[in-house]
Amino acid sequence: MTRRISERAREQLRGTALPPYLAEHVARAGTDDRYRCLAVAENKLMWDLLDAKANTVRHVGPESFGYAEHWGSASFREAISDFGGEFLWHRRIEPDSLVTMAGAGATLEALFNALCEPGEGVLVPTPSYAGYWLDLETRIGLEVIPVPTSPESEFSLTVEDLDRALRTAPRPIGALLVTTPSNPTGRRMEEPELLAALDWARANGLHVVVNELYGLSVFDPRGFQSVASMTSAPAEDVHLIWGFSKDFASSGLRCGVLASGNDDVIASVRQHAMFSVVSGDTQHLLGTMLGDRSWASSYLDGMRSRLRGSYEAATEVVRAHSFGVIPAHGGMFVLADLRPALASPTWEAEEQLWRTVLDASGVNLTPGSACRSPLPGFFRICYATEPADVVVESLDRALSGIA
Ligand SMILES: Cc1ncc(COP(=O)(O)O)c(C=O)c1O
Repeated sequence: MTRRISERAREQLRGTALPPYLAEHVARAGTDDRYRCLAVAENKLMWDLLDAKANTVRHVGPESFGYAEHWGSASFREAISDFGGEFLWHRRIEPDSLVTMAGAGATLEALFNALCEPGEGVLVPTPSYAGYWLDLETRIGLEVIPVPTSPESEFSLTVEDLDRALRTAPRPIGALLVTTPSNPTGRRMEEPELLAALDWARANGLHVVVNELYGLSVFDPRGFQSVASMTSAPAEDVHLIWGFSKDFASSGLRCGVLASGNDDVIASVRQHAMFSVVSGDTQHLLGTMLGDRSWASSYLDGMRSRLRGSYEAATEVVRAHSFGVIPAHGGMFVLADLRPALASPTWEAEEQLWRTVLDASGVNLTPGSACRSPLPGFFRICYATEPADVVVESLDRALSGIA
């Protein structure tokens, strides 16, 4: 008789089926000529600039072929520290306070493994990046506790929202996890909003993780202010996440970055980094790209201007069909308010609308349910998966059927 897989593995497999919008993506991509995916948070507008750099610096030396510190080689962390100080954090964060792992998701899991006891809850404002549920719940036994925010305030976070979620949480809370700019809204947390959340968390004895994965993709003229430039973070109880998947349009290379001011956290995450090392080859490539400041600077300017152009083109189409959007500051997505097109204000009606749009136009949008939206009718439009003219044409097709 064949032995079955472990109960633990079976438990981890429960509830991990792809959400319908991703299952449809897998089924239709490459097989349906009309199919357009505006549902995945990837920036595919940058290949010409990346190609010109990545495929000219591609010298791989012997150091990339051997073992190095599995939490990121000293030279790679030095390159991130220098680059981050100039472009993102606007303050020096020492290489010893940094850990790199194969993607922001792996880094978040290792970080929360260090921050919270199994069985504890983590407060996450919603709508949210849905991957947090996988990162925090699959292997390390935490529970995401949603903190619903409201479209009337463009889904900004208030201390009242946090108080309510803490008071009604079904289990003890260990940490608060915020994302700025947010996936799915593309909204940056303004300084007073973020500082109030930090003060609140500190008063309640919680760790705070600030995920700035889209920090350099902010195209709003007022730019992005990292929590590192507003406060003394990273600190003992405030930890920062960044990575290359979004800001360097390289989700396939797999590199996330933790910055923490807590030596025990760094030691623990370093230990876990062993299981998700960034390959030496990738560290070499990314480190070289960051090291060329003039290339990096023009790459970032080019990226923000393309994202802005696509954002403006996409929102114009949405407004032309008389729907509203939550104004974004950056990222590669915007939340459209399609509530007027729902047959009723229910999740079933949202799913029905998503399917009607997909079947009628071949355009896949992310339904708000997949972003844990607190209320039905908001759809995430990822406008950087295709050139702007394709986004405009397909979005127009998608919304024509329902306006
Ligand atoms: C907010 C946020 N955090 C983490 C991730 C995961 O990033 P990575 O591909 O680097 O693991 C994503 C990817 O969409 C994201 O949007």
